[in-house]
Amino acid sequence: MDDLQTLKDEFLSRLANAERSSDIQELRTEFLGKKGKLTDLLRSLGDLPAEDRPEAGKRINEAKNLFEARIKEALSDIQSREIKQKLTSESIDITLPGISPEPGGRHPISRILDEVIEIFVSMGFGVEEGPEVELDFYNFEALNIPRDHPARDMQDTFYINDDMVLRTHTSPVQVRVMQERKPPLQIIAPGKVYRCDADVSHTPMFHQVEGLMVDTKITFANLKSVLESFLHVMFGPDTPVRFRPSYFPFTEPSAEVDIGCIFCKGKGCRVCKSTGWLEILGSGMVNPKVYEMSGYDPGKYTGFAFGMGIERITMLKYGIDDIRLFYENDLRFLRQF
Ligand code: PHE
Repeated sequence: MDDLQTLKDEFLSRLANAERSSDIQELRTEFLGKKGKLTDLLRSLGDLPAEDRPEAGKRINEAKNLFEARIKEALSDIQSREIKQKLTSESIDITLPGISPEPGGRHPISRILDEVIEIFVSMGFGVEEGPEVELDFYNFEALNIPRDHPARDMQDTFYINDDMVLRTHTSPVQVRVMQERKPPLQIIAPGKVYRCDADVSHTPMFHQVEGLMVDTKITFANLKSVLESFLHVMFGPDTPVRFRPSYFPFTEPSAEVDIGCIFCKGKGCRVCKSTGWLEILGSGMVNPKVYEMSGYDPGKYTGFAFGMGIERITMLKYGIDDIRLFYENDLRFLRQF
């Protein structure tokens, strides 16, 4: 019986110290297993005098039941503690800020292109498109630039074959629209154009917006008013605008349109090359020869056309001095807009 008491004390104190369920499993084997300490004690009953056996057997069985009950208790305690621990250590902190996907942004060229389109649409212009791979006829011939005409040298053309080019300007859209429809016409044609040229102010692909207004009584005054209105919205109402005589084969008379330098306010700086003026677009009254080529009666209709480069306007608006930055896809540059 003393042995039994010692065994009980040992078992209970070790159970109290058990920390993991594996410790308890070990205790169970050590005391209650086939070769366990309590099992040994039960086996040694045979050594006792017969009259003591029932009492001793009863006591040992009581101890066995106690051990088993305590083991069960301890196991369920530890298991629920282990589950709690696991829940805390693996829990997700929902108060942490999330990792948000980086938002994209509009390319500066797209922004300014949209702005230009919106201004003309607000003045009643419709938006037209034409192909970027264009017939020589639309890009040159119908615009009064015959083969071998020196004006072809003004534009460094990518030829696809003898009759086909990458359009060098958006002016061919004028001809396509005139072939399809009769006046009154009031359209713009935004899009990509291509020239074999590359330096700080030229990329082989760039964007233009063409404009065309044709009716029976359109005059140079209409051209001035429309372009001045546009430039005043685009660059501010106080921006000086000037029309300078120029030459384009498809307009007559032709005018280059300048604005007072927005950087030095006309005093003269590096950007305006000390002239105080910035060249913004080409324009003119549609040459009667273009009407003839497009199937219009040149005696009946008059109108004006203009064309501008979007990269140039974007560079001026944002103060960018190298056109190539637009097409390098450097996020450090693009994130600034
Ligand atoms: N197409 C001309 C260019 O690319 C611009 C222009 C358009 C000039 C319409 C006059 C009229 O340089």
